Amino acid sequence: MASHASNKLDGKVGIVTGGASGIGEETARRLVNHGAHVVIADVQDVKGRDVAASIGSHRCTYIHCDVADEQQVKSLVESTLRSNGRLDILFSNAGMANDVKQDILELDIPAFERLFAVNVRGMAACVKHGARAMVAGGIKGSIICTASIRASTGTENFVDYVMSKHAVLGLVRSASKQLGAYSIRVNCISPGAVATPMLCRSLGGVSEEEAERMYGSHSSLKGALKAKHVADAVVFLASEEAEFINGHNLAVDGGWV
Ligand SMILES: NC(=O)c1ccc[n+]([C@@H]2O[C@H](COP(=O)([O-])OP(=O)(O)OC[C@H]3O[C@@H](n4cnc5c(N)ncnc54)[C@H](O)[C@@H]3O)[C@@H](O)[C@H]2O)c1
Repeated sequence: MASHASNKLDGKVGIVTGGASGIGEETARRLVNHGAHVVIADVQDVKGRDVAASIGSHRCTYIHCDVADEQQVKSLVESTLRSNGRLDILFSNAGMANDVKQDILELDIPAFERLFAVNVRGMAACVKHGARAMVAGGIKGSIICTASIRASTGTENFVDYVMSKHAVLGLVRSASKQLGAYSIRVNCISPGAVATPMLCRSLGGVSEEEAERMYGSHSSLKGALKAKHVADAVVFLASEEAEFINGHNLAVDGGWV
């Protein structure tokens, strides 16, 4: 059972996509610690249910949702409204990186398309349906998308991933213009490297320690960036402390970029 760190999100209902692991899991825990009820949406059903159960079924539930399928995203939002009556916070965080190298000369186009279906189309579907629920309910909600430092920098590999995260910035910048009229805020966070299962896999299956060692020198701050640092930034953007922040890309990278 979660003990409350503060009550700044009391009475709020949030959805966290990709909440079964890594940054999403840690954020779900912190949103609950600040008083919110959270629905975790993911495709890893066993992990998702375990995370929800460990947080406590009275504050957190799990729903299977592949964000690449718009119908499943629509059902996720409808089901959240049925169970909780409202939607205040959407943390649209689910994302993937391809395990293949993806440089431009060898770009695997089918793999590129699968990644875009999740990281770009899925992100847009989540913002669309989350925002529709907030508009219909007259909720002054907060939508936070997970971009990346790769939303504003390039690399020689992971071309598809870098392109997809640049697209998230475009989505946030455009949606925030339209939704501001409804007092709905749309922002994104851009983490540096966090040693989650996704990062470790994309580096060829390295350990957490090895991933942290590889990226340790990138930020100007000493030490490793952890999921909790990103989660705290999301809690801030979700809360009324960020009441007049809209269309912003918040870097959580220890001064890397
Ligand atoms: N780890 C990093 O260094 C880093 C840096 C910048 C941005 N990000 C972004 O952070 C987000 C979370 O990644 P993470 O690092 O916590 O990795 P992770 O692998 O720990 O978590 C990603 C979660 O998303 C879920 N997911 C994947 N595809 C999905 C789909 N189609 N529908 C629903 N859920 C799906 C996975 O099952 C997993 O639980 C991603 O958008 C990623 O691009 C990560």
